[in-house]
This record gives sequence, C-alpha cells and structure tokens, in this order.
Amino acid sequence: MRVLILGGAGFIGINFLKTIIKDKKYKILNIDKLSYASNKKEIKKLSIYKNYTFKKIDISNYLKINNVIHTFKPNKIINFAAETHVDNSIKSSLEFIKSNYLGTYNLLLSAQNFYNKLSNLNKKKFIFFQISTDEVYGSLKKNDKKFSEEHQINPRSPYSATKAGSDHLVKSWFHTYNLPVFVSHCSNNFGPFQHKEKLIPKTIECCILKKTIPIYGKGKQIREWIYVQDHVDAILHILKFGKIGQSYNIGSGFEIENINLVKQICRIYNELSKSSFNTVKLIKYVQDRPGHDFRYALSSKKIKNLKWKNKYNFDISLTRTIIWYMNNFKK
Ligand SMILES: NC(=O)c1ccc[n+]([C@@H]2O[C@H](COP(=O)([O-])OP(=O)(O)OC[C@H]3O[C@@H](n4cnc5c(N)ncnc54)[C@H](O)[C@@H]3O)[C@@H](O)[C@H]2O)c1
Repeated sequence: MRVLILGGAGFIGINFLKTIIKDKKYKILNIDKLSYASNKKEIKKLSIYKNYTFKKIDISNYLKINNVIHTFKPNKIINFAAETHVDNSIKSSLEFIKSNYLGTYNLLLSAQNFYNKLSNLNKKKFIFFQISTDEVYGSLKKNDKKFSEEHQINPRSPYSATKAGSDHLVKSWFHTYNLPVFVSHCSNNFGPFQHKEKLIPKTIECCILKKTIPIYGKGKQIREWIYVQDHVDAILHILKFGKIGQSYNIGSGFEIENINLVKQICRIYNELSKSSFNTVKLIKYVQDRPGHDFRYALSSKKIKNLKWKNKYNFDISLTRTIIWYMNNFKK
C-alpha cells in the first residue's frame, strides 16, 4: 500500500508515521515544509527505514505537489499538514489560508487528476483522508449537547475557519467529482512530540524552568482530551472500516477545564520531580484570547458504531506524557 503523508513531521503526523513505518506493507512518502512546529531531528531518524522517503515541499506549491502525486502514485493520501496554532492565526492569518485552504485545494486538484486516470481496481483502493478538528463546529455552552457530525459548521477563529473551509472543499470534491474521501474531526490531542506552544507541553516546560504558567481568562474553558495514539488508531480504523464520503468525530469523552488540567499537570510534576517547590504557584491568569471558544465536546457515536473506541486512560497517559517531556526537555 502506497501512502502519501502530508505534514508527517508535525505532532500527530510523526506519531502516525512511527505507528505504521515498521509494517512493511506500507510504502510511505512523507511531505512536509518543515516549519517551526516540525520534529526535524526525529524525521531524520526515520530515514533508516527502507519503506520510507521524505521530501521537503510546501503543499501550497501546486506544481511540486502535482509532480509528487503523479510520480509516487499513492493509494492513500492522508493530509495532516496545517498551520495549527490559534494564537498565530489571530496575529497573522495569511499562512493559514495558504497552507490549510490553498494547500488542501492543491492536493485535491492533483489527487483528482491522478484518480481519474486510475484503473477501476486502483480507484477502489484510493482514499483522500483529510485530518480535521473539532474546532470547526464552533463553541458549546457548559450544558449543550455534544457536537455530532451533523452539527452546523461554525468556526470562530481564523485557524478553525481555514480548517472548515478545507473540509468543505474535500466534501465538495466527493460530491462533485466522486473523489473517495474521509474527513475526521478529532478533539484536543496530547502526547509526545507536540510543539511547546501548545497548552500541555507549555505547562510542563514552565514547571521544568520554574517560569510563569499563563492561563487565559479564568481558565474555565473546557476541552475534550485524547491521547495521540488513540487518534492514530482511529485514523487507521476509519481507513479500514469507514464509509466513503463520510465524516467521523474522534473523541475520548474526557472533558476538563483548562485550569484543572494545568493544576493536575503541576501536581503530577511536583510528585515526579520530588522537588519541594510547588509549581501550582507558577500559575498566572492573563488576558483572555480574543473570541476564545468556551467548550468543545464531541459525540463519537458514529465511529463507535464502526467498533472503534479509545483505549488510553487519561491520567496514566498524562503522567506518561509528562515523563516524556521531562526526559526530552531541550532549552
Ligand atoms: N493537535 C491537536 O490537538 C489536533 C486535534 C485535532 C485535529 N488536529 C489536526 O491534525 C493535523 C496535525 O496537527 P498537529 O497538531 O500535528 O500540527 P503541528 O502543527 O504539530 O504539525 C503540522 C505539520 O504540518 C506541516 N505543514 C504546515 N503547513 C504546511 C505546508 N504548507 N506544506 C507542508 N507541510 C506543512 C508543518 O511543517 C508541521 O510539521 C492538523 O491538520 C490539525 O488541524 C490537531
């Protein structure tokens, strides 16, 4: 099976690659522009695998993407590539439009062109898989019903707007041109290899350096957290059992307020580091993010009907994640 991965040097992409790379049935090409968020050293280590190749390409470059798709001839295209930090999208959104929206458009255009020339047998094996997020559904109140796949798309940040826009493009390519697609909407991921701009790695880094831990507003925002390996397993499950043209939510059902999550990380860190310093004292409330969504929560009934369910316990995985960052911390 020939798998083209876009954005495989990022947090979820590299966890996905590490899961499939040892299986010789996959011949993998990883394309990434290698941004500040990429795990560059880790990507180099993967070059020992004979079934794996890497190419540094920006998906907003149509000619290069078109050439890659037509020469590699993938059966599966899995698009993780995106600019992903909401704060950056608020400061400057153009990169988000280029990578998330235009990049996906380029992929669809060349994938369609390639797909049209395939034999019927190879058409049956082909999938374009768009990795999307729960953020495209908008924001919930505390007691609102969780987002199902039928919920209106109501993005509220430039990041989620570009993700929603690209999801719409993917769905339109399915309906208009019969390109076989999946779209998945996963909740907040945590685990190894995430960039330290994101809440969990950032909190751990502040604990290690005894630096202020900034919390937006009063820290009352609620997020649903899933261990990255559960997300990876869900993607593989959808590839195997999903129904073409469908969207699938991927969640753990575990919701927590940001402030409680940060305090839990501090408490676990205190225990692990065996220091007498209480890192909870580092927490400082700062001005809220503009348009900060209050709550995301997913109904994952649809993927559970495909007989998938998350298997990693939150507390155990969080502790494992903190240990990983403590062992891999670089100034
Ligand atoms: N992290 C989460 O909690 C989460 C949750 C749900 C969905 N997602 C989605 O999963 C995907 C991966 O997220 P992540 O957390 O691994 O992100 P990340 O920021 O860690 O990694 C993204 C990777 O994509 C690459 N990339 C960005 N723009 C590119 C371009 N134009 N051309 C080529 N490569 C490009 C970057 O260099 C980086 O290596 C994203 O699409 C994101 O929207 C993330």
